[in-house]
Amino acid sequence: MIFYPQPELTSQHNALQAPQRADFILAEGSCDWFASDIIIYQCEFNPAHFVDALYEYYRIEIPDNICQSVIKRRAEFLAGRYCAGKALTQLGVSETSVAIGAHSAPLWPNAITGSISHCNCCALAAVSLNSGYRGIGIDIENKISDTTIDRLNKYVLCAAETKWLPIERDARASLFTLIFSLKESFFKAAFAMVGRYFDFDAVTVLEIDHSTGKIHYKVNGSLADSLPANTLLIGSFHFLPNNRVVTCVTLT
Ligand SMILES: CC(C)(COP(=O)(O)OP(=O)(O)OC[C@H]1O[C@@H](n2cnc3c(N)ncnc32)[C@H](O)[C@@H]1OP(=O)(O)O)[C@@H](O)C(=O)NCCC(=O)NCCS
Repeated sequence: MIFYPQPELTSQHNALQAPQRADFILAEGSCDWFASDIIIYQCEFNPAHFVDALYEYYRIEIPDNICQSVIKRRAEFLAGRYCAGKALTQLGVSETSVAIGAHSAPLWPNAITGSISHCNCCALAAVSLNSGYRGIGIDIENKISDTTIDRLNKYVLCAAETKWLPIERDARASLFTLIFSLKESFFKAAFAMVGRYFDFDAVTVLEIDHSTGKIHYKVNGSLADSLPANTLLIGSFHFLPNNRVVTCVTLT
């Protein structure tokens, strides 16, 4: 990851206290984990230093429904849009605002395909100008705890996937989190094509190749004309040092 300096402050932003300005975005930079035609921008942020004025400071519009949400949500939405703006700028796109579309999907500027994810104090956005991509999904997850795995297992994994789960606790959590994240990335990438919510049993993971960071998976039942049953797909993943995994799905 490359770290960039914080944006320069101008007199217009003096209403914000210096510690809040400096301490909300703690680290940031672009990441080259996946395909070279996808720009990924990530930031670590500190929700404790969030104030609403940061939206004005970063010139990011706050939608009405976000305005009324809890601080955690206002902070993560800002961090996600901040990353999206930075990623779009790196693509050379001057229109960097990303509104909320139908069913919470981000509304990207013309000709852009992209995706946003956040977990706790981290946010990231992936964008591409490749017109061959019909959907991009990105997802970041902290390693999921045992109790949550026990609760979610039957909704997230199909029988074949459950059989793979190792007994050893840490390995079990890593594999579960990876498959969960892949399915969330797939949902985000496929949502516009499918046009409705669909469950975790929509796809099954077939093979995970740790040497290449690729996951092979298939569509179970027909989801859309362009995603018929048994479509074989390949997603990408990258484990981060701090018990997090990032997955990325592109659909052509
Ligand atoms: C929508 C969903 C995938 C978001 O994932 P999450 O891990 O909860 O949260 P993340 O931080 O990773 O992602 C949130 C971002 O996803 C994006 N998103 C939300 N709904 C979306 C949709 N319908 N289509 C595309 N992207 C969407 C948004 O950008 C959102 O961030 P924002 O509101 O700040 O813009 C998840 O909440 C969900 O509903 N999952 C159930 C459906 C599913 O995953 N099925 C599995 C199919 S195999």
